[in-house]
Amino acid sequence: MSIANKNILLGVTGGIAAYKAPDLVRKLTALGANVRVVLTDSAAEFVSALSLQAVSGNPVHQHLLDPAAEAAMGHIELAKWADLLLIAPATANTLAKLAHGMADDLLSTLYLATTARLFIAPAMNQQMWKAPATQTNLNVLASHGVHFIGPASGEQACGDVGSGRMVEPVDIANEVNQVFSANNVEAESLNGLAGKRITITAGPTREPLDPVRYISNHSSGKMGFAIAQVAAQAGASVNLVAGPVSLATPTGCSRIDVTTAEEMLEACQTLVPTTDIFISTAAVADYRAASVADNKIKKTGDELTLTFVKNPDILATVSGRNDRPFCVGFAAESQDVEAYARTKLAKKQLDMIAANDITTEGLGFNSDNNALHVIWSDGDKKLPATSKYALASQLLNLIAQQHSKTH
Ligand code: C5P
Repeated sequence: MSIANKNILLGVTGGIAAYKAPDLVRKLTALGANVRVVLTDSAAEFVSALSLQAVSGNPVHQHLLDPAAEAAMGHIELAKWADLLLIAPATANTLAKLAHGMADDLLSTLYLATTARLFIAPAMNQQMWKAPATQTNLNVLASHGVHFIGPASGEQACGDVGSGRMVEPVDIANEVNQVFSANNVEAESLNGLAGKRITITAGPTREPLDPVRYISNHSSGKMGFAIAQVAAQAGASVNLVAGPVSLATPTGCSRIDVTTAEEMLEACQTLVPTTDIFISTAAVADYRAASVADNKIKKTGDELTLTFVKNPDILATVSGRNDRPFCVGFAAESQDVEAYARTKLAKKQLDMIAANDITTEGLGFNSDNNALHVIWSDGDKKLPATSKYALASQLLNLIAQQHSKTH
């Protein structure tokens, strides 16, 4: 399925790249889409409503409080009309407004009122793009399911060089077309998860040494929480067994908080009889202290020796049960990623394993992005670097396909 005959709302906001909007409309209509343009006040300073009306063949929508426009096609009607909302160029200000759910003009109101697929092509000064506030807003928007296109790097209108240029219209149109088509295939297969009972482990475990100290790791829990959120959105009944993380519970998921590996195992064992699919993203501590000191361990000599014992392997325990669910593991590796992942797939008797290279800068542990190589007995798929939310959806899509083949 492509964007041919689909309804696209194109939001144009006030950056210099707005002058490329008419060309973008033409590239989208050339692919067969119906396009209606929403222009913000500041965008209208850069590009005329008249040219956008001419190329789109539709009146341009500019104001929320315009009785004539509302009478012709009200904002809720417009939000419902759209199959996809594309905002290009999107300024830093627009990203901030959308991330916070503001609705003080037509475009931000439509963003809240639509269930259409969301695409954003940001464009701004390179320093504004790098700013922590903008990066935080991007993560919030990614968690709404927004697919980002760009920005590209290069020379900017202000003379700076760096990331922040709007991707060229022809490339935006092609990416929208390709991702929209892939998403639809994905959505169809995610439908297969409706009603399935999914248990997900996430985050680190924390193993106490004494009343005030523990050993743990840097896992943020973000991958597991993203999978839980997408699975719940797809209609699955989700139990999220979470180690100590500072993340909000995804809507619609039931959360069981645990601290240690042994507690996590106990919670999982209880859930297994009512679990169809078990997804183990937790970074379980391999060892725990042989005995937890009753009192704070005192500073005595120059060295301290503690004895650790092996923790149970939660995933292997679950997959070894007679009533085992479909089991998916993760493998965070720093070398020979595929070979180690394949060994783990066999050794832990898994149905599927998602491997990632933890040496890739900016991906994996504690990051908002990741890349995965997903492997199962008779196939594999590389999922390139993207947000953990987008990856969660692609991974669940593969899980749904493989689970339906075997169950
Ligand atoms: O053996 P390794 O720790 O590399 O295996 C990783 C996979 O096994 C992950 O899916 C992780 O959640 C799971 N695991 C587990 N219990 C452990 C160790 C790992 O469930 N004690």
